[in-house]
Amino acid sequence: MTPHSPGTGQINTLIWIGFFAALIVFVAINLGLFGALRRFGAGRGRTAHAPRASQGIQWRVAGGLTGFAILLFVLGIIFTSNATSTPKTTSAGLTSFKGKPFTGPLVIHATGQQWIWRYDYPNGAFSYYKLVIPAHTEIELDLESTDVIHTWSVPDLAPKTDAVPGKVTHLYFRADAEGEFFGDSSTFSGQSYAPMRTNVEVVSPQRFEEFIVEQQKGIKAGQEGAEKIEGQKNEELAEFEEEEAKERAKESPAEETEPAGEGEGPESSEEGTSEENEEAKEEEAEGGGEEAAEEAAGEEGGEEAAAGGAPSAEAGEEVFAENCSVCHGATGHGGNGGPDLTTMPKAKEQAGAEEQVTNGGGGMPAFAGTLSEEEISNVAAYVVEDIVGGK
Ligand code: HEC
Repeated sequence: MTPHSPGTGQINTLIWIGFFAALIVFVAINLGLFGALRRFGAGRGRTAHAPRASQGIQWRVAGGLTGFAILLFVLGIIFTSNATSTPKTTSAGLTSFKGKPFTGPLVIHATGQQWIWRYDYPNGAFSYYKLVIPAHTEIELDLESTDVIHTWSVPDLAPKTDAVPGKVTHLYFRADAEGEFFGDSSTFSGQSYAPMRTNVEVVSPQRFEEFIVEQQKGIKAGQEGAEKIEGQKNEELAEFEEEEAKERAKESPAEETEPAGEGEGPESSEEGTSEENEEAKEEEAEGGGEEAAEEAAGEEGGEEAAAGGAPSAEAGEEVFAENCSVCHGATGHGGNGGPDLTTMPKAKEQAGAEEQVTNGGGGMPAFAGTLSEEEISNVAAYVVEDIVGGK
């Protein structure tokens, strides 16, 4: 352990005090033993005889040892209470935040989930896997868990602390050196607990402010991208429904007067038969014009993209924007915690990518519970065809 915070510095000193105390006791006992052997033991022309000691020496030894133990006890209390006291931000730390003077602790939420840490910063930005903090600044880490007990542990910076479901645990510390620090998963939390490492990057206060602003922009871009795709879809769907309704009206104006439950008009798509909905979807696929043509051209390359159930890279784009871009970046070329996918072996073929998304691993969460099989195969297709394939 190389301490890089006031708290771990105290603990480190205490460890050394304990070590030297043990060393002193060890040496003293052995010297005493050897001395006794030489004084009382058998030797050339000498027979062993029982040692006789006065009561005085017994009291002196007992008193000395008691004093020593009390001294260690008191030192232990002093150093551990210093170690757990909250370190204040120094003048080299984050003294202003968003243009305003900053004094209190910088509060960051850390959420443990199987099997990755998520960090939420004061400006709404978040990051997975890696926590970025400013140096020389009092940090309050509010630890929570969504599933089982996870332990947040970076020995160089702070005491190990548990994140317990249904409870918030506060951890205060200050990092006094810039650099990257790691800790291993130290509580068994399920099959993939080992790669759930704790990773902290300590940066200058200026760099920290830049980081959270960049991070916030990236997240916003990702979310807007996803909303745009969603919006386009809804628009298209609404158009087709409208057209469909008009056609119906033309074909059989009498039908309109049919007793039709509650809602009428183009919005009541649930009212229509499933046949109609299917028709609308088919039309969507055909009516896509250039888009459909493009897609058909692209699909000629991949044999498996034949009939029903073929993964759709187009549908996968939205899944990617919502679930993956936060780590792998908006374009999949790496970002916060996730590697550039064009460099990854499993991103090159459909089966590998599907497997990675389903089971996770290597610091990536499993999506088996959050995404459907169809979404997984679509997003895998998007990774293989568009990101790695460079479409
Ligand atoms: C919390 C961050 C995070 C999220 C979210 C995430 N990934 Fe990953 N992903 C990673 C990390 C870290 C690795 C590196 C794993 C390794 O080195 O084995 C990775 C690796 C990969 C790989 C390559 C695996 C290999 O070993 O070749 C693929 C493919 C992949 N991710 C796809 C996705 C897709 C698709 C999504 C969205 C459904 C996604 N990832 C979401 C962090 C993430």
